[in-house]
Amino acid sequence: MSGNPYQDDRGNKDRSITKDGGGTLVASPGTKEAVHSSNAFLIGDTMSGGYGQGPDILHDCTIAVNPGEIAVIVGPNGAGKSTAMKAVFGMLDVRKGSVRLDGEDITDLTPQARVLKGMGFVPQTSNIFPSLTVEENLEMGAYTREDDFRETMEQVYTLFPILRDKRRQAAGELSGGQRQQVAVGRALMTRPKVLMLDEPTAGVSPIVMDELFDRIIEVSRTGIPILMVEQNARQALEIADRGYVLVQGRNAHTGTGKDLLADPEVRRSFLGG
Ligand SMILES: Nc1ncnc2c1ncn2[C@@H]1O[C@H](COP(=O)(O)OP(=O)(O)O)[C@@H](O)[C@H]1O
Ligand SMILES: [Mg+2]
Repeated sequence: MSGNPYQDDRGNKDRSITKDGGGTLVASPGTKEAVHSSNAFLIGDTMSGGYGQGPDILHDCTIAVNPGEIAVIVGPNGAGKSTAMKAVFGMLDVRKGSVRLDGEDITDLTPQARVLKGMGFVPQTSNIFPSLTVEENLEMGAYTREDDFRETMEQVYTLFPILRDKRRQAAGELSGGQRQQVAVGRALMTRPKVLMLDEPTAGVSPIVMDELFDRIIEVSRTGIPILMVEQNARQALEIADRGYVLVQGRNAHTGTGKDLLADPEVRRSFLGG
């Protein structure tokens, strides 16, 4: 990649329809437990929208996460998982619905403004600066901060020790799993209140995937809620407090990770039986 990963933001300035509050109660069909979302710490609430002047990709799509939780979004290729994440981060025109962070409506804020509000986002692609060193990548992550960020960098190096060893190496020379650690570390440098990860384990081996999941669990235990998209649906739902199956831009199934793993329809359609 080159340049700022947030550069293709378009804000939501031409958003024409506003929905105020209301909230939503998402119940997973066939499960006892409803997942209440309307007051979640971070929520993209009944979002509809698409790219530019194009058709809606998202249709009343809701995704949310609360402190202490790992929320996981799964679904087939092209279901709109990345689009939903981009909508929550302000990189897409949300034509209907809203995005709220800690009770505040942030639907009209730019991605940059959302970072200042405490959102950390690791996009699916172009999530590091390959020609910069590992340490320079982390420093770039701290660009919004005016205080001393060395302590945060220490925390990132403690979480991902390999990054300390490779701190003077160009990030582009690292393995796939190490590059993802750089990307997550870079997002952590802002000291986010919520962390959004789009396919953090894409292209890595099962062993590296397990290690990354362990680190993600560790981050969530520090109190940072995590909203992530995963293509490794079964493994991701195993660590999910809250799970969403998206199909064609819509919420198809919602429940705890455990609920979804036990749901025969989810198993048959999305988990290979
Ligand atoms: N930048 C874009 N411009 C126009 N359409 C896009 C863009 N990115 C994705 N899409 C379309 O949006 C739909 C959902 O894509 P995406 O959110 O990337 O799915 P997923 O992440 O679930 O695989 C697809 O039909 C895709 O072609
Ligand atoms: Mg995607």
